[in-house]
Order: sequence, then structure tokens, then C-alpha cells
Amino acid sequence: MRMRMPFGGCRQGETGGKRKSLLFLKKKKQKDFYPFGGDTPTPMCPHAKGAKVFCFFFSKKKFFLLFLLSSPAHADRAQTIVAAMTQAEKLTLLRGYFAISQHRKPADAIGSAGYVPGIARLGIPALQETDASLGVTNPDDVRPGDTAVALPSGVATAATFDPQVAYRNGAVLGREAAARGFNVVLGGGVNLAREPRGGRDFEYAGEDPLLAGLMVGAAVKGVQDQHVICTVKHFAVNDQESQRTTLNVVTPWPALRESDLLAFEIAIARGHPGAVMCAYNRIGGAYACENPVLLTSILKQDWHFPGFVMSDWGAVHQVGAFTAGLDQESAADLDSQAFFGAPLKAALANGTVTQARVNDAVTRILRAMDQAGLLDKPAKPAESVPADIATARQAEAEAIVLLRNEKNAALPLPHTLKTLLVVGANSDAGVPAGGGSSQVTPVSGYARRIELGNDGMQGYFRVAAFDPPAPLATLKARLPGTRILWADGRYPRQAILLAHRADAVIIFADQWEGESSDVPDLSLPSGQDALIAAVAAANPRTIVVLETGGPVLMPWRNKVPAILEAWYGGSGGADAIADVLLGKINPSGRLPITFPVSETDLPNPVVAGMYQSPGAAVSVDYPEGSDAGYRWYARTGKTPLYPFGFGLSYTHFALINLQVEGGQTLVISFDVKNTGPRPGADTPQAYVTSRAGKPGLRLIGWTRRTLAPGETQRVTITADPRLLADFAPARSMWHLSGGSYRVAVGPDAATPTLTGAANIDDHLLPP
Ligand code: BGC
Repeated sequence: MRMRMPFGGCRQGETGGKRKSLLFLKKKKQKDFYPFGGDTPTPMCPHAKGAKVFCFFFSKKKFFLLFLLSSPAHADRAQTIVAAMTQAEKLTLLRGYFAISQHRKPADAIGSAGYVPGIARLGIPALQETDASLGVTNPDDVRPGDTAVALPSGVATAATFDPQVAYRNGAVLGREAAARGFNVVLGGGVNLAREPRGGRDFEYAGEDPLLAGLMVGAAVKGVQDQHVICTVKHFAVNDQESQRTTLNVVTPWPALRESDLLAFEIAIARGHPGAVMCAYNRIGGAYACENPVLLTSILKQDWHFPGFVMSDWGAVHQVGAFTAGLDQESAADLDSQAFFGAPLKAALANGTVTQARVNDAVTRILRAMDQAGLLDKPAKPAESVPADIATARQAEAEAIVLLRNEKNAALPLPHTLKTLLVVGANSDAGVPAGGGSSQVTPVSGYARRIELGNDGMQGYFRVAAFDPPAPLATLKARLPGTRILWADGRYPRQAILLAHRADAVIIFADQWEGESSDVPDLSLPSGQDALIAAVAAANPRTIVVLETGGPVLMPWRNKVPAILEAWYGGSGGADAIADVLLGKINPSGRLPITFPVSETDLPNPVVAGMYQSPGAAVSVDYPEGSDAGYRWYARTGKTPLYPFGFGLSYTHFALINLQVEGGQTLVISFDVKNTGPRPGADTPQAYVTSRAGKPGLRLIGWTRRTLAPGETQRVTITADPRLLADFAPARSMWHLSGGSYRVAVGPDAATPTLTGAANIDDHLLPP
């Protein structure tokens, strides 16, 4: 077995200090150091060419430290190419073009969000950049008639707590992108969902840095294994859409290091993205794409990121962004001027930008291309739509969270029902998709599109689209002996009358989320709360299927026997929902985001800047600091409606026999047993609940185990020490205070089934 590095990464140019800090691992017995994914040392060190790299190898009997120090004279391939480039060629790679207009796009562009010309003389291909967080997009139908498989939303994928699902999704994205000739996927959204009304929470991977980092890192690796560069975005703290292009986040850096930035750090260490896309907002006064602390000190120096930073579309405001650490201006035609064009040349001429910085930026871009294999002209892969839809369906089936199943009786639905009523939420058309640049034109085309209105960018993005097939048709096909009635839900009286005649009711309820605006509150819109309450009063066997981007309030919760959270399900959505409702799949999803009882429990009762005029100078100091999501509920003693990590099953599980070891980190072992009647998957989670006397809840690991009835498995989780640390700004290092660390293991963040403690040695870790 091989020992894995913390967060699974080998770093470039590490020194003896790092070596010392990691040697403690030698003392430990082999554990599931990271029970997630299956990295091997080689892909962990893809940037090793010509660099000093430490890799750790471990066998059951022996532990070897292999220190590879290759000659610095071995310049990497990127540097060799840079040495052969003219200045004009170098500058070509630093400026991108907007490519979504059929009429205005550069001649060689396939048609997508962005394009950077190549250099044929040197065999450098053009960068053809497509949005593909949830499927390859086709904005404005720039490639007439092109459709793609829509994967479940990012938050849905996170709800699987299964990095292998994220990896497989990433592989679908990478393959479908490459099959169309794209070589850059603008994916990897890893902003923390600290604001549950955030308009892009559906694209991201929840509120916890470890979960988000591991899931997005796995997805990025899945994309890049298809010879396509993947980004992680939006770096950083683009955690809300209100005022996104001007918002100034003034939450202190150490708090961000322990939350938002940690999610990026983990995703980068696990996925090795070729590029990082910086965000629209400001942090500590400076725009993210012009922020030297963020881009240079943290990303490039502390984390040794070897790839390049590209800007978000229209996020550059001055040529100084280049010296701050931005390497490539994306779609420069969207900025007030193409700063990395003539102004960059002028800055070079007057000495405010150095040639070394230009060479560094170009080297980074070429290194990312080389790492993804783009310089070797990879063959176009074949696409298989049926196989990719099957992957999407499987991902969604694992993502659906069973929130309620009274007396375990309401679900699964028996196939013997005489009459079933299906209500609402466009269930006759498809499953909802989130709006904005991630919106996929699904295979077979949109099932329905409803323009929600507004002007400018908001109007453009505010389209509620639905992916086929329809849940109604799918249920009809799956229940041939059942009479299925349908009501659209616009007239509650009609739904009530039909509910009286049915043996059971499935009511679909949706909430639309989209880029560039946040949802005003967490209620289900358009009277759906009242509709559910009325239908439930008419038929006690009313099952609610939520199709939301994130949390919603549920004033009717105690009136219905069963609730499923199905998120935005994508091309496999309707089938996966039917699989879970009918018991073909035993639900195993877990909430990657807390569902609050009320907005008054949120750190910010109103989204900062939501009601100010567009572009207002708004600053926000997120009051929860590093305690985003469930950590905030633990800190304030508030009880959520459904806690982070929560999810039921059609079977039951028990957690027993906890053991906790300390030292340099926590090693937690316990048994998980399926005590119920069916096979099923459980996701027990380990949290630290206090560190050297300082209370505070943090997820430090989990495992997802599929168990037969009566089966028991022993689990061991070893915490990455950074999850136990505070970021100490004075030393710019992670600090683990010495003392007793308390641990809870349970089915979610609010249920400490097993508790224990162990001592941790006082020590520091590099940033
Ligand atoms: C979004 C990015 C996206 C880019 C290109 C921006 O508005 O924030 O996520 O990749 O557009 O479409």
C-alpha cells in the first residue's frame, strides 16, 4: 500500500523544512490515510520535471523516503519552447477572445466562452475554452444544434460524498469537450456555499472545505485525464452573486485560509488543474484578479502552483493585474480595454513589467498545456451519449437525499398502487437546471424554457430550463399497472380534488437558481409551500420531491410522510428519481450544505448588497469567518432543519467501537454495521469538536461503505493535520496547539453517536 501525502499532493521545489514536517508520518501504522480516490505517486507529482520533488512510498513492511533531486539544468519543455519564442508570440498567449457570437468569433474558434490563438510555427495549439461544469455548454447556440449530456448539479455530485462519482463525471466532461475539439474546460467551481441563497451554489460542492476540495479535485482529475486542461474557479470567495463584480470581502485572511482557500488548496493538490480562474469580487480591497496576496503570495508561493491564472470574463480592470499574478486576460474584449494587449506592451517598454514576468506567465501556460498533453496533439476521443447518460443517472441516484420517511413506510412506493397523482414543478416536461454560463443544452434539446425576465445580464441568464425526460412519463413507463393522474399545481383546488382520489401523491417542488443573482429567501417560490400543505391535508401519503439548487425552508415538513431532495438532476434525473422512489436504488446521498429552520439563523439575515443598486460599493465581513455552514450552527448552538451530512436510507446502520489515536494528527477507527433488511451505503463522518480546549466543529474525514444486511466493516480515518490547525498569521504557518482534541463520529454534523479524545503534539506546518 502507498502512503498518500496530505491532500494527496507532492509539491514542486520543496525544501528540507517540508521534509521534516512530514517525517512524522513514518511513525504511524498504515491507515486509510485518505480513503478517497485512488491516486498513485506518479499523477501526484506531474509538475516534477526539472524540479526538486519529494515522494513518499510506503509498503506494509517498510517505509521508504525517496528524495528525487533532479538537475536544475533539465529545463522543462515549456521553458525550452519559451526560449524559442518571439516577444509577439509570447504576448499572443496572454490575451484571450470572447467566442460565443457566431458572427464575431475569431475565425479559428470553435464557438464557446473563450479562445486564445495558437502558434502554428511552434506546434502550440489554440486554446478552445468551453464552460463545462455540468456538461459542455452551447451558449447562444453558437454551434447550431449541438447538445450535450447534462450531469447533475455540482451540489448534487457533492451529496454523493463519493470522489469516484466526481471523477467519473469529470471524465464525461473532459471526453465530451475533447470530442468537440475543446482543450480547456472552465469547470471546477469550488467556492464555498457559505451563503445558502447564493445563485451559483448549485454549481459548487457545498459548504465544507474538505468535502468541496476532495470532490472538485477528483472532478478536475477526471477532466484532465482526457487530455483537457481544467480550471478551478472562482478564486476566491465569490460566495454570492449579489454585487459580484464589485463586492469587497474583508473577512480576514487567516479565516479564509481555514475555509474558502482551504477548499481551493485541497482541490488543487488533488486535481492538479492546469489553470486557476480568478474571481470578479475584491478581497481586502483589491480585485481578486489583481490581488498579489491571493495570486502570488498564496497561490504561487505558498502552494507552489505551477500552472497559470486566467481571469474571469470581464474581471480585469488594469494592466497591473499582470504584476499581481494574473497570467492571461480571458475574453479581453469584455474588459474596458484589452489590458494585456497594447497597455502590457507599453508597460514592458517603460519597465513597469519585466521580461522575466512575461516569460514566467508564458511558461506557466505552456506547462499546463504540456501537462494535459496538448502539445502532443492528442487524438479526438469518441463520444458515447448512452454511456454518459448512464454515468449521469448513476451520479444522480447516489446524490438524492432521503430527508424523511415516516415509520420507514411511505417509501419506497409499492408497484401495486392503483392510482398515483403526480403534481407540479414541470414534472410533465423534465427536471430543472440552474441558469447561467454552466447551463447545458441537453441531449434531445430543452424540454421547456421559461424566461423569468429582467434586463441586461440578469435577463440573459434568468431562464428556467428543464432537461428531458419528464418524471411523469418515466413514472408512467415504470408503473404500467398504475393509473397516473397529473396536475400542474397552478390551481391548488384541482390538485386537492385529485389527491382525494389517489392512493398516493408525488409532488415535485422546484426552486430556480442562476448566475448573477442570488435567491431573495429560502422559501419555495410561486405558492408551492401552500400547495404542498393543501395537498398533504387531502392525502396523507403525499411524498415531496424537492428539485432545488440548495436549501429551502419546509413549513409543511411535519404534514408529509416522505421528502426527497433531488437537486437539479440533469439528463439522468427523471430515471434516478424513479429508481429511488420505487426502491430500485436505496438512497445514499448526504447533505453537503445545512438546511436552516429560518433565514434568521443565518450569519447574514439578508444577503449583503442584495438590495443596493448594481455596482454599489459594498463590503462584507462574513460574520461566521472560517465557521461557514454547519460550523456556524455548532458555534451558535442553533438547531438546523436538516444538518450537514444528513441523509436516510431504506436500511439502518450502527456505529460502534470507536478508537482515537493522537500524536501529530488524529487517527480514528470504528465499525459500521448494516443492521437493517436491505443492502445499502452509509457515509459515517468524523468531526473534531474541540481542539486543545477550543470548541468548534470541523469535518475531518468520512468514508462511504456499501454493506450487505448484517455486514460490519472497520473504518480508519486519518485527519489531514491542517484540518486540526489554526492559520497563524504572524508566522504564516499552520499551528496545531498541543492538548486534548475531542472527536465525534456520527451520521451527520449534529449527531455525535460516538465520542472520544486524544492528545495532539504542539507543532507547526508550512502554509
Ligand atoms: C463566469 C465563469 C464562466 C465565464 C465564461 C463568467 O461570467 O463567472 O464561471 O466560466 O463567464 O463563460
